[in-house]
Amino acid sequence: MTGSALRVGIHDLAFATAHQVLDLRELAEHHGVDVGKYYVGIGQTEMSVPAADEDIVTMGAEAAAHIIARHGSDGIRTLLFATESGVDQSKSAGVFVHSLLGMGEHCRVVELKQACYSATAALQFALGLVARDPRERVLVIASDIARYALDSSGEPTQGAAAVAFLVTADPALLEIEPVTGLHTDDISDFWRPNYLSTALVDGKYSLAAYLRSLEGAWAEYGARGGFAFDRFDRFCYHQPFTKMAVKAHDRLAALAGSELDREQRGAQLEASLVINRRTGNSYTASIYVGLLSLLEHDEADLSGARIGFFSYGSGSVSEFFSGVVQPGYRDLLRRDADRRALNDRVPIDVERYRRLHEDVDAVLGEDYSTAAETPGPFRFAGVDDHVRRYERA
Ligand code: CAA
Repeated sequence: MTGSALRVGIHDLAFATAHQVLDLRELAEHHGVDVGKYYVGIGQTEMSVPAADEDIVTMGAEAAAHIIARHGSDGIRTLLFATESGVDQSKSAGVFVHSLLGMGEHCRVVELKQACYSATAALQFALGLVARDPRERVLVIASDIARYALDSSGEPTQGAAAVAFLVTADPALLEIEPVTGLHTDDISDFWRPNYLSTALVDGKYSLAAYLRSLEGAWAEYGARGGFAFDRFDRFCYHQPFTKMAVKAHDRLAALAGSELDREQRGAQLEASLVINRRTGNSYTASIYVGLLSLLEHDEADLSGARIGFFSYGSGSVSEFFSGVVQPGYRDLLRRDADRRALNDRVPIDVERYRRLHEDVDAVLGEDYSTAAETPGPFRFAGVDDHVRRYERA
């Protein structure tokens, strides 16, 4: 049902996260909360915490470096950087990455923002460019640090991660199908004013808004000739915390009148949650971290499997769409490297996590240099005369 002979989609997908980790058991103890609330109730066990010399640029560059190492940067004429934790109000974070990776000057580089949704907008724009000229290869980077105020209800759902993916004709990983369902609604469920470094959220309302948006996007997807629920093999949702994806899938199954029981519904979803449970929310990247997790952790051979995607960005814009996993996809995965990215993070305690959190605000507007801490390939060196400096570590 591609509607045209040209197949377009995701050719390769890579992952990076921050290099420190806080076990949510420690946060639960600090707050005097039963750890079951975090581990089971919201479905999160750890969160990635950036060191002072890590940010969305260093994580995005690290993910994209995997793509460039395998495919080169020749012919990549568009780099789309999706984020809602941007480092500058004017300059795209993608320009820093373009420089760190030594990409060619004949490239358009743009940052996109609409809460956690904008990586999906980047994907759709990239598909359009490739459909117009199949020689085009578009690099999409989604990178975010989820930050809420200390001691707020959102605190255990913080996290950090990035993905980079290459959008091409004849994709080797995932063909994206043409029908989509969209939904936009001007609401204030989650947002971050320019003068704050942490997000504001109306927690319970945001959950209801997410589910209402899913209903809206699914309705339009069906009206535009999309596949019925039972034509999907797996599902992948935006994951502010993994339990949200479970709630969403239950809602979608009910909407579709599905008779699958809880275990069967879980089998369609569970593998997509494995990585997020350990990184925490990564906003724009989260749904594509979910895709990577699904491909790496599902025991079944997913060749030919149809995945349903629901991308949600507060405020709100959402989209339901589908993709078909390509034969041979397993050969493209970087399972060992991705496992190491999670397992090799340096454990930190609550005291260090809180100090790092507070330091972000303490240095706003100041010149400063960061201590060299990250074991990653790129580092944020500091700010001179309001200019951010990045370097290879
Ligand atoms: N053992 C097991 N489960 C427990 C438990 C225990 N000891 N104690 C509590 N729980 C369960 C609760 O029953 C609840 O489960 P259900 O929702 O299934 O009933 C769950 O743990 C959470 O408990 P609370 O609802 O009491 O938690 P809370 O009110 O303190 O915070 C939250 C929950 C509102 C989601 C909060 O984490 C938050 O504000 N998060 C940020 C906002 C967010 O992520 N919204 C999602 C939609 S918006 C979006 O998707 C965009 C985005 O990326 C932010």
